[in-house]
Amino acid sequence: MTNQSFPRDFVWGAATASYQIEGAVNAGGRGPSIWDTFSHIPGNVALNHTGDVACDHYHRWREDIALMKQLGLGAYRFSIAWPRILPEGTGRVNPDGLRFYSDLVDGLLEAGITPWVTLYHWDLPQPLEDRGGWPSREIVQAFVEYTDVVTRHLGDRVKHWITLNEPHVFTFVGYGGGRHAPGRDDQFEAARASHHALLAHGEAMRVIRANVPGAVAGITLNMSKVYPATPSEPDAQAAAIVDASLNRWFAGPVFGQGYPPELLAFYQSQGEFVKPGDMQTIAAPVDFLGINNYFPIYATADPRQPHGLSTLTPEELAAAGHTLTEMGWPVVPQGLVDLLIDLHETYRPAALYITENGAAFADELSEGAVHDARRVQYLHDHLSALADVTAGGVPLRGYFVWSLLDNFEWGHGYTKRFGIVYMDYETLRRIPKDSYHWYRQTVANNQPAPLAE
Ligand code: FCB
Repeated sequence: MTNQSFPRDFVWGAATASYQIEGAVNAGGRGPSIWDTFSHIPGNVALNHTGDVACDHYHRWREDIALMKQLGLGAYRFSIAWPRILPEGTGRVNPDGLRFYSDLVDGLLEAGITPWVTLYHWDLPQPLEDRGGWPSREIVQAFVEYTDVVTRHLGDRVKHWITLNEPHVFTFVGYGGGRHAPGRDDQFEAARASHHALLAHGEAMRVIRANVPGAVAGITLNMSKVYPATPSEPDAQAAAIVDASLNRWFAGPVFGQGYPPELLAFYQSQGEFVKPGDMQTIAAPVDFLGINNYFPIYATADPRQPHGLSTLTPEELAAAGHTLTEMGWPVVPQGLVDLLIDLHETYRPAALYITENGAAFADELSEGAVHDARRVQYLHDHLSALADVTAGGVPLRGYFVWSLLDNFEWGHGYTKRFGIVYMDYETLRRIPKDSYHWYRQTVANNQPAPLAE
């Protein structure tokens, strides 16, 4: 492992998101978000968990910064809760909300940690959902207003901006599968929502550049390499369709290559949503592409399914010999390598950052320690693969582990632990896991630390 060093200025980070860690949902003048509404409806989230308390990061952020400082972290990616800034979504600005993030930013800078701010990580103000949410084109202007307020306030100190986190998930899973807030289920509405999300991203890029001198800004997409489950031609076709809907539907427009035409025709068959000029707005140049990646996908032709295809289930993956995480996701570091090479070749982004990568396992606290050997192995193997890609010329500039803390894992509530720090949800005590100590060594050495014997 001695020659697996990363470039000298490689960014070592950790990531979180507002609704997943902050709690304090009624504190400091915060308004309700769609995740408050959704999680409070019985049956939507495992064990009916909500983000009401979460990690109580809203009150314990100083302690969390201390954990990051001890880790030697270079950068911290967190998101801003829109309903703390504009409780009604637009209009009235809440000074307490701005103050919270301003203090957090100052605390990070004092600790020598660069703040990376995600503007939208899924907690839409409920009043905006009541006005139509992402499927309504009005949302674009609301996002511009919100971005303007935040960047004017923090732009003197925050230079790194991510407009949206995973538009695929918050549109196609939130509006097209009902499994995430706001729990609607209409794929045509979801596609319309995704177009408005991309448009909001493009408009926000302009606002960020106007308000933040020296801004480094981009978008974070969830992307997965899609492999055909077998070498057959029908499976190859199935893989191409999944790749188009998951990856190309988002990266295409951002990099000026437009939507995959077949899919666009299908989604617009129930009403057009792309207006003249939209595609130019969406293709505003980005300084980087953020990738959230956890696993690859294996697609197969399946005439019984609505679109004539399906993806391998955790049971099928296990039967094929894959190691799975607690989420049922296959562990395949090569999937991340293949994905990055594809992206580099297809879109030539100026820079790539892994803005999330990590794994959930059923961790146990015993005698004050958490021996999460499988997470250490996962991180070690992914980072080793990344070191090779970087050496091979892909412009990968940084890595953010998901997540700093165990937290509210959306529809899974607190049942899935992704943190390198364990959360005792009874006491809110934070206990660094073995993976935290391993990551600290990795950051210090600028290369994947060895695995314990
Ligand atoms: C991503 C989300 C993040 C977290 C991880 C596990 O889809 O961006 O908030 O839930 O998955």
